[in-house]
Amino acid sequence: MEKLKAEVREKGLKYHIITYGCQMNMHESEKIAGILESIGYMPADSKEDADFILFNTCCVRENAEQKTFGNVGRIKKLKQANKELLVSVCGCMMQQESAAKKLMETFPFVDIVFGTHNLYELPEMILACKSGTGRIYSAPETEELHDDVPQKRAEGPLASVNIMYGCNNFCSYCIVPYVRGRERSRSAEDVISEVSGLVSAGYREVMLLGQNVNSYDGGINFARLLGRICEETDIPRIRFMTSHPKDLSDELIEVVAAYPQICRHIHLPVQSGSSRILQEMNRKYTRETYISLVKKIRRKIPGIAVTTDIIVGFPGETEADFEDTLSLVGELRFDSAFTFVYSPRSGTRAAEMPDQVEEAVQTERIMKLVALQNKITEERNREYEGKTVEVLVEGTSTRNPGHVCGRTSTSKMVNFEGSGALIGSFVNVKITQGKKTTLFGTLAEEET
Ligand code: 5AD
Ligand code: SF4
Repeated sequence: MEKLKAEVREKGLKYHIITYGCQMNMHESEKIAGILESIGYMPADSKEDADFILFNTCCVRENAEQKTFGNVGRIKKLKQANKELLVSVCGCMMQQESAAKKLMETFPFVDIVFGTHNLYELPEMILACKSGTGRIYSAPETEELHDDVPQKRAEGPLASVNIMYGCNNFCSYCIVPYVRGRERSRSAEDVISEVSGLVSAGYREVMLLGQNVNSYDGGINFARLLGRICEETDIPRIRFMTSHPKDLSDELIEVVAAYPQICRHIHLPVQSGSSRILQEMNRKYTRETYISLVKKIRRKIPGIAVTTDIIVGFPGETEADFEDTLSLVGELRFDSAFTFVYSPRSGTRAAEMPDQVEEAVQTERIMKLVALQNKITEERNREYEGKTVEVLVEGTSTRNPGHVCGRTSTSKMVNFEGSGALIGSFVNVKITQGKKTTLFGTLAEEET
């Protein structure tokens, strides 16, 4: 390993990571970057400038897979121009043996392929590859946690902390339990000490991550974990995602209500407004229980924003089922929603179901749903006009360099005129305009 480190340093080797998919994948890319920097690699400005290019993949929906194949294919030219270039593909998609095989056959120039469970072994894989072992494919199915790896976090006041991995739910459309394995939780002590370390390092907001974050069980349940983080650390803001409605307990609602540092936002995927489809999806709740859960959350935690995920065109979804989804969206008026066209994933139960919905029908339905939700999102954002909200400033605005942006506790992006010196502080902003994706405002007073 020392020889590899010396070579990396001497040659000044650089890496570039391209990440697809969810927050979990983004966070895993921070770990990959941390591992690479621990053996001397430095970040490259672009893939053209890199000696090691990694694709961290997602397989939750089909279009993510197509994008990955297209982009990996385009690396061939760079590889031809630079024989020393190492190319690696990792992450969820590579955890599926069939997809990994297909990728390796299609792209003989890919050097290292690994899955989601063994990223900590990356230095050994690079070493073996460079010592002439040839191409490497390693995607074991271990359930062990290897969390003690260096992390290179994104700049700014926000940090992610993974508290549990995997999923036991087997929603009938979803590939995640097959690639991420069963639920494993980190110990509460580990999580709390990581959050304390982040506070000391100057971070102001942590996002606790898990595929099913509220079924955390690290000796204590998720509600207790949140309570302990609030009591035992000085972190000013905590978020968490993604919550499953079936595990959203009264105890959790009470803890969120009790601690102002827990953000007033819950991401609670509903997936469908039809109880029949929910049953086919194996979601373990009905339309009615979901609606009363959201109403209870809003009653107990006034002002909380609720966002969701919705799938349209699940096998067997009739016009009446889809109308149920529209009416649920109209009744609950989510702050925003991620909407997806159902995409069959091989190996899942839904992929084998009869009555797959025609593409034209799926397209028509998603357009209707998006139009309805966009209107609601904008209306909800307009409700902020004239109000003063607390914002944690995250960075400068990409569109307007004289402006900065950050989020409210309710997870609304706010853009306002201000200097980069505000990054990392909490400020009050008076909202002048609420648009579809962003609230615009003016600084009301400095540090709150
Ligand atoms: N097709 C479409 N959407 C899916 N999701 C998960 N699996 C599929 C699939 N096969 C969506 C769900 C989930 C989000 C992360 O992705 O809405 O909540
Ligand atoms: Fe997939 Fe369902 Fe698990 Fe979420 S809860 S990761 S949708 S199986």
